[in-house]
Amino acid sequence: MPNILLTGGAGYIGSHTAVALLARGHTVTLLDNFANAEREVPDRLAQLTGAEILVVEADIRDVETVATALADQNIDAVIHFAALKAVGESEADPLLYYEMNIVGTIRLFEAMQKAGTKNLVFSSSATVYGQPDASPILENAPTRVQNIYGRTKLVMEDLGADLVRTGFLKGVVNLRYFNPVGAHSSAMIGETPSGVPNNLMPYITQVATGERPYLQVFGNDYDTPDGTGVRDYIHVMDLAEAHALALEYILQTPGALTVNLGTGTGISVLDMIHAFERATGRTIPFKISPRRPGDVASYYANPSLAERLFNWKAKLTVDDMCRDSWRWQARRAGINDV
Ligand code: NAD
Ligand code: WQD
Repeated sequence: MPNILLTGGAGYIGSHTAVALLARGHTVTLLDNFANAEREVPDRLAQLTGAEILVVEADIRDVETVATALADQNIDAVIHFAALKAVGESEADPLLYYEMNIVGTIRLFEAMQKAGTKNLVFSSSATVYGQPDASPILENAPTRVQNIYGRTKLVMEDLGADLVRTGFLKGVVNLRYFNPVGAHSSAMIGETPSGVPNNLMPYITQVATGERPYLQVFGNDYDTPDGTGVRDYIHVMDLAEAHALALEYILQTPGALTVNLGTGTGISVLDMIHAFERATGRTIPFKISPRRPGDVASYYANPSLAERLFNWKAKLTVDDMCRDSWRWQARRAGINDV
């Protein structure tokens, strides 16, 4: 089975993908600088999977160290998660995002070239669609970057495609994630936002633990069925499974492609609050607040390409997403009756 290196492998989506890869018999090496990951993650992964987890603590911009790791571990493909991902921060410090996301990716490509590693699965984002004309969104919808973070994702997608076209890489899959939520059902790994969460699900779970008094619902006057924003939330374990299948596909089928990863179903903020209450038995107090600047009313995926190419479909429900997010956050908060 192939040897896979995960940049940012100790982070939220990377750690869950490691579980999915190990379950399918791959060997994984995690490369992370631990800027946004807990140091216990590799040990928890080893406990969870019973597998040996190789860890390289390095920055993706350290070409020598990355190239050595790729060569020493005989890596067949890289899954590239390592990036900064906060939209607001990217607008406040564009050069930091160009440096970490774009320059970082170029340095990773240099290391891959040195080591002769020619296959890549790349974490892109549905944020590149900006305000879509309509949902469900297909991969050929126009891209409308609305912030620096989104710009870096689009540039990174294009760089990979260029390197395939010019023969430096064999295969690249850009995976455009919609809204990843949830955690492994063991509650041993999950998302650890630092400070006040920007995203809906971590905020809801922190209201449920009592760490925050109520949720602000950003706008109830959108042109959506209940007036609140609609998104395509996808369980991180479904997303993880899709990475394993995308990787297996690209190793067999050289070329560059871009694939949406979502469930294909739009869920409103109020739907999510009610699902969370139903799945966990906790009450989520909320207040309607003004719209959040930059928010889009509604978007969700057409995930049919992923189904056709990878034979993948999201299986986990919104209730699964809520239950698993809650287990993870409750465990962190020391709440045991879940
Ligand atoms: P995360 O912050 O949990 O994981 C990123 C990991 O990369 C962290 O462990 C961090 O320590 C590491 N890292 C960051 N910069 C690094 C560097 N220069 N060198 C080495 N390691 C570095 O984020 P995540 O939610 O797991 O996101 C993974 C990827 O998916 C990112 O590229 C992100 O842009 C993309 N994405 C995330 C979401 C989301 O909502 N979580 C949605 C769409 C796309
Ligand atoms: C979802 C809905 C909010 C918080 C962001 C990034 C995107 C991607 C995923 C990386 C919206 C509403 C939220 C709150 C609320 N990340 N909301 N109260 O904005 O769709 O996407 O994360 O690639 O790039 O932009 O996700 O979870 O922030 O918001 O009412 O406290 O929940 O208005 O309708 P978003 P989100």
